[in-house]
Amino acid sequence: MAYVITQACCNDASCIAECPVDCIHPTPDEPQFATTEMLYIDPATCIDCGACVLECPVDAIVLEDELTEETRPYLEINAAYYTKYPIEQGRSQPVQKRKADFDYSSLRVAIVGAGPAANYAAADLLSHRGVQVNMFDRLPTPYGLIRSGVAPDHPGTKAIADVFRPMGSMPAFELHLGVEVGEHLSHDELLGHHHAVIYAYGASGDRKLGVPGEDLRGSLAATEFVAWYNGHPDYADRKFDLSCERVVIIGNGNVALDVARILVSNVDDLNKTDIADYAIDALRTSRVREVVVVGRRGPAQAAYTNPEFLALKSLPDVDVVIASKDTELDPHSRRWIESGDAEPSVRIKAQLAQEIAGLDLKNARKRIVFRYLESPAEIIGDETVTGVRLVRNALAAGPDGALRAEATEESEILPAGMVLRAIGYRGAPIKDVPFDDERGVVPNVEGRVVKLETGTPVTGVYATGWIKRGPSGVIGTNKKCASDTVERLLEDFANGLLAAPAESDQAALVSLVRERQPRSVDFKGWTVIDQTERAMGERHNRTRVKFTDVDSMFAVVRGDRG
Ligand SMILES: Cc1cc2nc3c(=O)[nH]c(=O)nc-3n(C[C@H](O)[C@H](O)[C@H](O)COP(=O)(O)OP(=O)(O)OC[C@H]3O[C@@H](n4cnc5c(N)ncnc54)[C@H](O)[C@@H]3O)c2cc1C
Ligand SMILES: NC(=O)c1ccc[n+]([C@@H]2O[C@H](COP(=O)([O-])OP(=O)(O)OC[C@H]3O[C@@H](n4cnc5c(N)ncnc54)[C@H](OP(=O)(O)O)[C@@H]3O)[C@@H](O)[C@H]2O)c1
Repeated sequence: MAYVITQACCNDASCIAECPVDCIHPTPDEPQFATTEMLYIDPATCIDCGACVLECPVDAIVLEDELTEETRPYLEINAAYYTKYPIEQGRSQPVQKRKADFDYSSLRVAIVGAGPAANYAAADLLSHRGVQVNMFDRLPTPYGLIRSGVAPDHPGTKAIADVFRPMGSMPAFELHLGVEVGEHLSHDELLGHHHAVIYAYGASGDRKLGVPGEDLRGSLAATEFVAWYNGHPDYADRKFDLSCERVVIIGNGNVALDVARILVSNVDDLNKTDIADYAIDALRTSRVREVVVVGRRGPAQAAYTNPEFLALKSLPDVDVVIASKDTELDPHSRRWIESGDAEPSVRIKAQLAQEIAGLDLKNARKRIVFRYLESPAEIIGDETVTGVRLVRNALAAGPDGALRAEATEESEILPAGMVLRAIGYRGAPIKDVPFDDERGVVPNVEGRVVKLETGTPVTGVYATGWIKRGPSGVIGTNKKCASDTVERLLEDFANGLLAAPAESDQAALVSLVRERQPRSVDFKGWTVIDQTERAMGERHNRTRVKFTDVDSMFAVVRGDRG
């Protein structure tokens, strides 16, 4: 009997350190870790001790015996990884520990952002006695996309925020919420109070398709829709017209799948989650019956992960539709998979698409349709979207061997009332901090921020998370990313490269913050917001009812309402 990792895996890798037989891979030290969809347990090595289960922050690990019809495919998904990376070859190198004898006390670090990357960085720094960490977020609530990105129907994943909670009561940690760096405090002011600043402010903007009609009413970024249904205060007043029957989503990453699922899910089920109240109202009267997810490459190259794709099969009263002809592999992809060069997850991805294409339809009320090898050439309509012209693509190998989509002459108009582009997020600049506008990231070498023009390091400035790497990777990917950045920062401090700040009195920083943002919220204040939201949720049989405007959040912290 073996344990099996299932859908909720967040790659946080806490389980790996607990495993006495090294049967969970890839580890953060292995090259596959950076791009893996999830972690896998080798069924042949697992000794069934359950140590990993206790450590998993999202309850993703179950005993083989406890697999349901829905989760049974994870047996093969876990085992398949070890066909390419057998455990003897995959064995990780022992993790190099930092010099335990170095005295880091007096080190003061500011972290900009309170999302996963920021929190993992803070936890790592605080494991060194004497390090003071000040964390800033522009919103009165912490945890970034865990709160405003992760889908409301994934409460297990959102629970990962609990891992960060104990940090809140550490004397060396101070949270400053509702404080925007670049607005309330400048980059220079942060450096004036700290040896180092770590930028971990994510990538909340969207990317454009660059096709005609993209600015028509009803052509929108999925980033906005996601932030809206998750109650992000910047998006709470948006209106989405759900009176059409068909919505087209461009791009087939996990964000596309989240959006598709929310659009067709049973509203009474969503009403048990922390989805924004106004989103429930809009979804209740929605006339959307079909969501078409359009990928520009084939099923083997789809950007969604197998767990998220597989989960769609279990949506009640929803048919998942794929045309069988769309799942036939092109010669390039077939050769890639058969040669064994492709990751096992790629073979499974192609296989799952074929399986789903072969399923009998349930004649359900709603459907998600997957189309592959198509790109939007134009969004059609006068003022409002009425459809999208999709061009058929063929795959061609680029100079680096990667398979790219190339447009053919064939095209088709697909009528639709809304087009959501789910083609990725994009970072934005903060004043006085280097920024690479082409990539939408803070330029850096292994987390050390560098000047874009010269590539020279900017002393005391670091980056982690999506603003360091670009907008990809799951929550746990940011743990290794943060640890790499912190490693460089500690190295620089130990080598005497970080100048002492002009002002190192914590009280002076706190008074500067209060002067600039009198409404700033500390960890205690956030706890009041959190408990109030949970209590409101309990009254309505929901995980929480979110405040979706900052004034209500500030008011509850002041004790004006509850
Ligand atoms: C829609 C969506 C769903 C996802 N679902 C999952 C999932 O189910 N499972 C999973 O493992 N991963 C999921 N991910 C991926 C995961 O959310 C990211 O890997 C992770 O959140 C990136 O962390 P980050 O800290 O770099 O950025 P973020 O989480 O974006 O955090 C950045 C923080 O910085 C703050 N900030 C921005 N500008 C400033 C400023 N000027 N001053 C101060 N603060 C600022 C923001 O308010 C935010 O709180 C999802 C991503 C998206 C987009
Ligand atoms: N449940 C979860 O675990 C979860 C949920 C949401 C997000 N996330 C993670 O968050 C990260 C971001 O997700 P994401 O969905 O925003 O990004 P993503 O995974 O990078 O997917 C982007 C999609 O957009 C397509 N695309 C890009 N430019 C395009 C263009 N010009 N025309 C047509 N299609 C285009 C891409 O196609 P190509 O592949 O051909 O480039 C891809 O299908 C991912 O790592 C994801 O796994 C995880």
